[in-house]
Amino acid sequence: MRKGLFALAAVGLLATSSVAACGDDKSDSGSGSKASSTGKVGVILPDTKSSARWATADVKYLTAAFNAAGVQADIQNAQGDKTQFQTIADGMISSGVKVLVIVNLDSGTGKAVLDKARAAGIATIDYDRLTLNGGADYYVSFDNVKVGELQGQGLVDCLTAKKYTKPIVAELNGSPTDNNATLFAQGYNSVLDPKYADGTFQKGPNQDVPDWDNTQAGTIFEQMLTSNKEIKGVLAANDGLGNAAITILKKNKLNGQVPVTGQDATVQGLQNILAGDQCMTVYKAIKKEADAASELAIAIAKGQKPTSATGKVTDPESKKDVASVLLTPQAITKDNVKDVVTDGFVTKDELCTAQFATACTSAGIS
Ligand code: BGC
Repeated sequence: MRKGLFALAAVGLLATSSVAACGDDKSDSGSGSKASSTGKVGVILPDTKSSARWATADVKYLTAAFNAAGVQADIQNAQGDKTQFQTIADGMISSGVKVLVIVNLDSGTGKAVLDKARAAGIATIDYDRLTLNGGADYYVSFDNVKVGELQGQGLVDCLTAKKYTKPIVAELNGSPTDNNATLFAQGYNSVLDPKYADGTFQKGPNQDVPDWDNTQAGTIFEQMLTSNKEIKGVLAANDGLGNAAITILKKNKLNGQVPVTGQDATVQGLQNILAGDQCMTVYKAIKKEADAASELAIAIAKGQKPTSATGKVTDPESKKDVASVLLTPQAITKDNVKDVVTDGFVTKDELCTAQFATACTSAGIS
């Protein structure tokens, strides 16, 4: 498996750069050329089920960026398995990567990996998720509190349009082990709490979804709805959780009446928006995120000091600053779904299948 993925990245590399750049620590000895002294990069993505992004977007943009730079990259996915995550990291560390980029599955195993890498003199980048107390050299992500604020405001707008009196809002939070989920909740609760406090909305059930497990989210939401039939709005932390809620709402013929939020601008999320079943999603331009992370990794691999991480984030556990790049998220509703297509994140063909063709035309996607 590892070999297969490695070969995939290496094949792409051959297509775009000199053979010399392909030399790894075994073959470049003695050549002394600049290209052959460029180090290898290891990237570990978390899973393929908590969000479509990890399988469809991040790997594609990261591979393209490393190929374009002629830097050898071993990009693997831990498939949601923390042991596997550490095994992959051990393999990358012993294969002599110069930079390790990780999306942790939780801060504990993330930190263990970062500690090992550091001990081996390898530079580290937290990609998308900050590893608490992990001490990575760099952090690349979006403004995740802002993501949550957009979700909260999106739900407020959709519920206001429905003109419900004191609607009950349910919250499906992300994984309690993902620092991003904490930041998203901080953002949306900063918008929703005042609405609960002044009686505009009623606070309904609120639950974390372990590991962002979409299937479990369905079970959790079904229980919420069974015990509270008056739920009128759902703050779901990403499109996968949102779709799980929408599936249950459909079963109860409530879809479209109960606004649901999301995140990631997945094809499914955008189609749910076009169908009127989802209120909004948050588009995070993952190409920019992948480009920002690979820019740092490429500089390090080439022995240069990166200059692009001009921001900083304070790790809430260690209280230490991490040099960071934080990008800006965008709220997407039916009115601007087309922006995601224009930006090239999803194609018209993927989005506008027969079932959604009319909705796509009305949304100005042509
Ligand atoms: C990411 C989201 C993603 C979620 C589940 C978060 O850390 O920022 O984009 O939907 O994890 O994978």
